[in-house]
Amino acid sequence: MSPGTDESVARVREVFDAFGEEWERLHKDVAGRVSFEIHRRFLDEHLTSAPRVLEIGAGPGIFTQYLARRGAQLTVTDISSVQLVDNQRRITEAELGGVVEDFRVADVRDLSWCADGSFDLAVAYGGPLSYVFEDAPAALRELLRVTRPGGTVVASVMSTLGAYRHLMPGVVDIIMDYGDDANDVVLSTGDLRPVQPAGHVCTMYRSEQIPGLVAQAGGLLIGMSASNWSSLGDIGALARLEADPAHWARFLDNETWACRQSGCLNGGTHLIFAARRHHSDTSDIPPPTPTV
Ligand SMILES: C[S@@+](CC[C@H](N)C(=O)[O-])C[C@H]1O[C@@H](n2cnc3c(N)ncnc32)[C@H](O)[C@@H]1O
Repeated sequence: MSPGTDESVARVREVFDAFGEEWERLHKDVAGRVSFEIHRRFLDEHLTSAPRVLEIGAGPGIFTQYLARRGAQLTVTDISSVQLVDNQRRITEAELGGVVEDFRVADVRDLSWCADGSFDLAVAYGGPLSYVFEDAPAALRELLRVTRPGGTVVASVMSTLGAYRHLMPGVVDIIMDYGDDANDVVLSTGDLRPVQPAGHVCTMYRSEQIPGLVAQAGGLLIGMSASNWSSLGDIGALARLEADPAHWARFLDNETWACRQSGCLNGGTHLIFAARRHHSDTSDIPPPTPTV
């Protein structure tokens, strides 16, 4: 039996309060740098000029800094006060503090402090929706509510099949510790709670589930991408490409293209998607229905 959502979300916050290496995740190796680039390009497609942006689960602020440099007016939030303080310190050191209108501790499940239609774009990269388990449709609905009609929510969640493929030692641990049936449940539900009694937990998704998630939240799915697809394997080979700017630029173009092919969507550790708020009023949005 899974623990309740509140208990699970509190556990996620404790993990990120104690986690000091989040800044390194998208810098330290070539796969991380490609992941940043895939997320950045996807984000770029939804940036208008001088957009008002809400960043959810901003962590130490790799995308905060990118958005600040792109001229966004930012409200920067995270459920972890430790991550938020780190973000603020890094923004100040980068002399970008002027564009952040508010730094705020916030849980994506409760945006009641924020008026309807306040932002052009809401960004929830790196799994905030994966960290709220069965509350993800309601949380995405909140993100759509605080986005203006016609505005966009861009999010990335953890990938069930990508994790299965790329994190096989962890899969084998689950099978050895909990059995094949428990692992089959993880594959079908994406919920790691039954097999992770301590530490990091989340709900992972298959690309086939994203249209349903967006529809339950009352939004319109307008794009999806894996992150990454071909660049999670042979780090040494990729390093050779990265060493040459021309080869690297071409590789990143091809990787961006590959990540969006339907045959590749489930191949990355993350799934990125964009959901648009309908142009009509939020009262047109039907209430969420329970996930089957
Ligand atoms: C993997 S980090 C991603 C950081 C950054 N967005 C990025 O992509 O580099 C996930 C972040 O989501 C935050 N988070 C987890 N659960 C959340 C929730 N319920 N509401 C808001 N943020 C949450 C964590 O504290 C953490 O900073």
